[in-house]
Amino acid sequence: MTSLQPTNCARLLASKGTSAQISRSLCVLVNGGHLSLNSRGGRSLNHSQQWRNPNRAFSSTATAQIKEFFPSHETQKVRQTDAAWPHPIYTEKQLNDIRVAHREVKNWSDRAALIAIRCLRWSFDTITGYKHDSAVALAKKDHEKAVQKYAMTERKFMIRNIFLESIAGVPGMVGGMLRHLHSLRKMKRDNGWIETLLEESFNERMHLLTFLKMAEPGWFMRLAILGAQGVFFNAFFVACLISPRTCHRFVGYLEEEAVITYSRQIADLEAGKLPKWEKMDAPDIAIKYWNMPEGHRKMKDLLLYIRADEAKHREVNHTLGNLDQKDDPNPFVSKYKDPTKPHPSKDIEHIKSTGWERNEII
Ligand SMILES: [Fe+2]
Ligand SMILES: [Fe+2]
Repeated sequence: MTSLQPTNCARLLASKGTSAQISRSLCVLVNGGHLSLNSRGGRSLNHSQQWRNPNRAFSSTATAQIKEFFPSHETQKVRQTDAAWPHPIYTEKQLNDIRVAHREVKNWSDRAALIAIRCLRWSFDTITGYKHDSAVALAKKDHEKAVQKYAMTERKFMIRNIFLESIAGVPGMVGGMLRHLHSLRKMKRDNGWIETLLEESFNERMHLLTFLKMAEPGWFMRLAILGAQGVFFNAFFVACLISPRTCHRFVGYLEEEAVITYSRQIADLEAGKLPKWEKMDAPDIAIKYWNMPEGHRKMKDLLLYIRADEAKHREVNHTLGNLDQKDDPNPFVSKYKDPTKPHPSKDIEHIKSTGWERNEII
């Protein structure tokens, strides 16, 4: 993929007023290629097939021409470092069966969580000029104009994915950290929640690292992530102290949005709207982490895996939000008295989009 010129970028992202300005800034600055061109000795923005792939003999894309963004660190004695939490294997059918879903609000806590998510989504969409509903509405009247005004490109989706994944890795770490500290100071068992929460944040970080193999953020994006992390970490930390149940519901709703976002990317890819992604291979880091089988290592497959992970987070957090936060065991790592009945697990064999109710599993 070639670097996007700032002028094109502005045209692609432009919408009226402040959001247009910010969008232009995001595009130019997140792009980073032009900014880092001189300081990095001629490197252009590497949203392309740039990772090295010594184990793969065949590739449908051009050989990497530029240095990898963050190459693995070679040492004298270490051959490779595997993921501490191996990823469960997903089948092709399971990946394709993931659906957009919404858990109905049942109490004030759910409502507060949903309102918070809707506000965040609206703000982020407005700032970045992402207007899916407006685009669909306009496309019915004037397709060309809709494409001109709102079309999402590979680059815009990538910017969005990188920013959102950098945020998505926060809640699991905060939740796990708080339960860890609680267990230490109360001298009580945690019943298995900590590992699942930390694993979730690890998984989100793997999403981020995978996307970072495809695009190198510029200083504006780094600054935006720094600011967002500072605000979100502290806000979520305080919220978790006040009501962990509401926080799990909040993450459940956040993951509903993530499934929607990745489903749209997959749909656009299938509809031929993202041609630069059609032949793109998944980077090695992703192939190893998800154990992506030969013949299923393209960008679309990668998006299917990530969407399934988000659906899993959706299930986990909606379920945890249904449980007694103090006494209930983590149902995703528990052994059941009747293992023949479907029950929560680490994989997605019996995934429940809106979470398991407490009386189904405890
Ligand atoms: Fe994610
Ligand atoms: Fe997620």
